[in-house]
Amino acid sequence: MLVLGIESSCDETGVALYDSDQGLLGHALHSQIAMHAEYGGVVPELASRDHLRRILPLTRRVLEAAQLQLADVDAIAYTEGPGLAGALLVGTGIAHALGVALSIPVLGVHHLEGHLLSPLLSSDPPDFPFVALLVSGGHTQLMEVQTVGRYRTLGDTLDDAAGEAFDKTAQLLGLAYPGGAALSRLAESGDPLRFRLPRPMLHSGDLNFSFSGLKTAVLNLAQKYPEISDRADIAAAFQLAMTDVLSAKSVAALKIADCKRLVVAGGVGANRQLRSALALSVQTMDAQVYFPELAFCTDNGAMIAYAGAMRLRYGGHEAGPFTVRPRWDLETMASPDCADQQTESADLRASKSSNA
Ligand code: KG4
Ligand code: ZN
Repeated sequence: MLVLGIESSCDETGVALYDSDQGLLGHALHSQIAMHAEYGGVVPELASRDHLRRILPLTRRVLEAAQLQLADVDAIAYTEGPGLAGALLVGTGIAHALGVALSIPVLGVHHLEGHLLSPLLSSDPPDFPFVALLVSGGHTQLMEVQTVGRYRTLGDTLDDAAGEAFDKTAQLLGLAYPGGAALSRLAESGDPLRFRLPRPMLHSGDLNFSFSGLKTAVLNLAQKYPEISDRADIAAAFQLAMTDVLSAKSVAALKIADCKRLVVAGGVGANRQLRSALALSVQTMDAQVYFPELAFCTDNGAMIAYAGAMRLRYGGHEAGPFTVRPRWDLETMASPDCADQQTESADLRASKSSNA
């Protein structure tokens, strides 16, 4: 089954083709970052208009590169939520219009489910079950993933998401939106031990996070040390505080879930220091950490096409009416009937890697 995936939840337009036998056949992305940068954040109306301009040309490009045609597509998966309502509506509208024109099923996908399953697109995918650390611009969650559709929230952020904290801190340090990656680059030339920032909720006894206090601590530090030459040290101290908390809670989550596999998903998963800190922490408990390829860490169409293909295969979230869900709790999704799913998933990954 060939699934066309469309991602339009925020500021990246992603389109991909995933074939349930042959794996990922192609994907393309257009980032709106340059367009939003001058406003210091995403402007929802501009985002919607840009998705409208990009989705069909990107679809054409992906089809041409894979030497396929629209008529070859068996189903369309699109991001139904959570995200910006107007941006979601554009992807939803195009997906449904194509579905009607081609008389094929159209399926709304949960954006976070896409992120959670994105490591399965890599050449060395994890087996189920695993614990997922989901760290994106809008979410910071620790989830126990039993199999496709069986998710349990272990921990959540009480305020800012990890990516949001990176972006706000970057802004405080004068870096352009969406500063996460830029802050990380700046931190590389800094001394992480010159300043000591708080590690919020490190010893809270649960798996929840809170990052707004850390942002305030950075603000105070930046006011006390306003020189440009101090910025790299502040960035490095912030990054170290973030990675300390994220890795400590991830290790605790593995212990609570009695699991030896940690999967990292979402844009902040691209952070190099977080990656090495997590790799080091899980080593101490003889566990393994899996990262999606960098291109699949941030928003992309491939994870939506893949999650759609899984849902179409195993059920649990049927093709539905034209709707978007700007706010949508992942745990509220129906679980598919998972009989034999684990074995089938392994077969599917094996056939995918043999075709890669
Ligand atoms: O998953 P994503 O692409 O979009 C959402 O669903 O939110 O995540 C975007 C977030 C942004 O906050 C961005 O600054 C952050 O991921 N990010 C990073 C890095 N690359 C992207 N944060 C820290 N270090 C990075 N290298
Ligand atoms: Zn995302």
